[in-house]
Amino acid sequence: MAIPAHAPQRANPLTELTLASLRTRTSAKWRRYSADVLPLWVAEMDVPPAPAVREALERAVVGGDLGYPAGTAYTEALAEFAAQRWDWTVSPGHMTTVADVITGYVDVISMLTEPGSDVVVNPPVYPPFFSYLKAAGRNVVDAPLGDDLRLDLATLEDAFRRATEGGRPAAYLLCSPHNPTGTAHTRAELEQVAALAARYGVRVVVDEIHAPLVYAEHEFVPYLSVDGGENAFSLMAASKAWNLAGVPAAVVIGGSGVQRELASYAASPHHGPTHLGTVAQTAAYRHGGEWLDDLMGGLDANRRLLGTLIDEHLAGANYRLPEATYLTWIDCAPLELEGDPAAHFLEHAKVALNSGPTFGAGGDGHVRLNIATHPDIITEAVRRMGASTHHG
Ligand SMILES: Cc1ncc(COP(=O)(O)O)c(C=O)c1O
Repeated sequence: MAIPAHAPQRANPLTELTLASLRTRTSAKWRRYSADVLPLWVAEMDVPPAPAVREALERAVVGGDLGYPAGTAYTEALAEFAAQRWDWTVSPGHMTTVADVITGYVDVISMLTEPGSDVVVNPPVYPPFFSYLKAAGRNVVDAPLGDDLRLDLATLEDAFRRATEGGRPAAYLLCSPHNPTGTAHTRAELEQVAALAARYGVRVVVDEIHAPLVYAEHEFVPYLSVDGGENAFSLMAASKAWNLAGVPAAVVIGGSGVQRELASYAASPHHGPTHLGTVAQTAAYRHGGEWLDDLMGGLDANRRLLGTLIDEHLAGANYRLPEATYLTWIDCAPLELEGDPAAHFLEHAKVALNSGPTFGAGGDGHVRLNIATHPDIITEAVRRMGASTHHG
């Protein structure tokens, strides 16, 4: 085989935009804080749209194709993506669409449990796991991740036992891959979860919104594909991997054992996605694979860059390469800053991060830093953070 003298350079969507152009954005990431702050917080990405998504949206907008959604293209596109990327055969017939992922998990958990039921979560975890379930009248129960940031099966079993005492219905909302730690749960771990859920009769709902964002040396394992996963529900969307939070649309997938429940959910009045959201997310799954590969190359470089920068400027802080997602979880406790590190860095370094305690138990002393941005921005942010620990 002929080997080219120079390997072709991969595109990197994370280096295409300038700070000046990003500052003209009107979404939350770039508008929450003043213009002297580098925003590395909410899960938006500093990338141009994938060409396939842009073209699909342009076609719809220019043609005035702005009515109600129709057809099954979205679920078919997801099924094709799942087969190609995860070697997972799932029927579009086992899916129904919903406005967005949060609406999906709240609806499904509301269907499977009763007001006052316990819902187990694994803090530190995405803050709306707490807030939306509480607003839906559920009692959120902690089964914290272990010190290794992985599922702690003994703690989970204990939570399942308590949640189901007296035969009460209970659910478990699993985040896979896990936000904010970037943990990619293994098949063995998920099989153990499924066995425990079966033993205690706990209903499993899995938020798999970050599924396409697993780094090459790790694997995304769809929960519904593991032994015992057939009685669960999954929520998926292209929103995180293609930066489409502004045009949301999500999919509820039911395992083979819950098709009656899925049908009853699909038939019930619930918030469906918009047509434009469906158009964008369908294009991402169907035609956005190459762009995703380029993105993952850039994110891989950024997660390694962050490690180098932390060694250089924030020595002592604990950072593990995420296995998935563009969200990184940094333990700043060894830096002995006063108060919440995110508040410190906002005030003294003009860098906006997510505050660890908002992710629940295990969040104290931590920050979540979003690496889906230009490497120069990460470099400047961590340099500023380092300087603030000397003078702040
Ligand atoms: C784990 C997780 N679930 C859900 C969401 C939000 O999804 P949606 O905007 O579709 O409700 C996010 C956004 O960051 C997330 O990280």
